[in-house]
Amino acid sequence: MTSHAAALLSAPRAALTPGTLDTPAPADDEVLVRVRAVAVNPVDWVVQGTSRITYRWLRTPAVLGSDVAGEVVAVGAAVTRFRVGQRVLGLATGTDRGRDPLREGAFQEYTTLLERLTAPTPDSLSDEEAAVFPLGLSTAACALFQSPHLGLRMPGDPAPGTARGVVVIWGGSTSVGMNAIQLARAAGYDVVTTASARNAATVRDLGADAVVDHRSPSAVAELVAAVGGRPVVGAVALGAGSTDACIDVLTRTGGDRLAMASTPVALDALVCRRRLFPAMLPVFARIGLGTLRSTLHARRRGIRANFVWGSSLRDDEMGPRLWGEVVPRLLAEGSLRPMPAPLVVGDSLDAVQGALDRQRAGVSAQKIVVRL
Ligand SMILES: NC(=O)c1ccc[n+]([C@@H]2O[C@H](COP(=O)([O-])OP(=O)(O)OC[C@H]3O[C@@H](n4cnc5c(N)ncnc54)[C@H](OP(=O)(O)O)[C@@H]3O)[C@@H](O)[C@H]2O)c1
Repeated sequence: MTSHAAALLSAPRAALTPGTLDTPAPADDEVLVRVRAVAVNPVDWVVQGTSRITYRWLRTPAVLGSDVAGEVVAVGAAVTRFRVGQRVLGLATGTDRGRDPLREGAFQEYTTLLERLTAPTPDSLSDEEAAVFPLGLSTAACALFQSPHLGLRMPGDPAPGTARGVVVIWGGSTSVGMNAIQLARAAGYDVVTTASARNAATVRDLGADAVVDHRSPSAVAELVAAVGGRPVVGAVALGAGSTDACIDVLTRTGGDRLAMASTPVALDALVCRRRLFPAMLPVFARIGLGTLRSTLHARRRGIRANFVWGSSLRDDEMGPRLWGEVVPRLLAEGSLRPMPAPLVVGDSLDAVQGALDRQRAGVSAQKIVVRL
């Protein structure tokens, strides 16, 4: 058996350290990938800093990371869409309950990806660009297309001859938001969104027809005005304060579906505390109470609000359809662009911990990427 290098989480809350793992053979429905670029998401430093509470099932040592681009070096017996040598991008789900956090984590030289969560990388994209998609795109798709959320038609589904419908996306300059704008437009919906002034032109260029600054005290009224009486098919809430703001917009525009992707309290301050206990108690109490209060608030206004889990498409029909049909087609057409733009912060696994810290410090329409 051969071995390879990995950035290991050796214990909950530890810094990532270099390690060596046995290189696995792919299972029947997997491809083994030589990883060439990884991107970082907020969940990576959240899991690193709080997994004793938030990801209690996660055993260590573990390999974190969701976003993978690289090349296929082996295919499982049942794989039909990929061959050895092909460049791919895909969603690694090793930190999810019931998955293998060593075989299926992104931050290592070789990882396994499920065929159904993998797409070919077109020649027009570098690996660094391809790595920005997986979790942002998957979370956006869950929010827009899964039936507990907005339940919208997917790109390629026939559109009815009636009015197109508007999707409200609070947080259009986030990674999830930029993918949501593009997917909603590709499915034939109009989009109104938020972004700071410096990112307004970028999100407009992705297809939003109105952009409002999420820091503006009149942001809700401005979004309602931007909807302009068109039918609202739902809202996606991304970022602090987004859930209550979306409930207000939906109430005033007649929309009745809300996909919530962010916790009501950010966890970045907690993650860097030397001890989780007792600092976690008021934070998690506020998250629990805030979520309950918002859900009840939504229900009283006739709005169905559910929390999105970006990797849940692994277990439904939407995932294989997204990764097997929609993503390859949109990438080949050039109608799905790698946004936020990659910001490459290193060239080796040693750079991954710094990349997590950089993401936690805050980004603005940038995806932190490490090349391997
Ligand atoms: N539930 C899931 O499965 C799942 C999966 C992925 C992400 N998420 C969550 O979704 C959110 C977005 O994640 P991401 O990786 O896409 O984020 P990201 O790219 O790190 O987000 C950075 C952007 O957030 C925007 N922003 C900051 N505060 C905001 C606010 N109050 N309202 C709206 N936008 C705000 C900033 O916009 P400007 O610079 O333009 O101000 C910045 O460009 C996070 O809360 C993350 O934890 C959830």
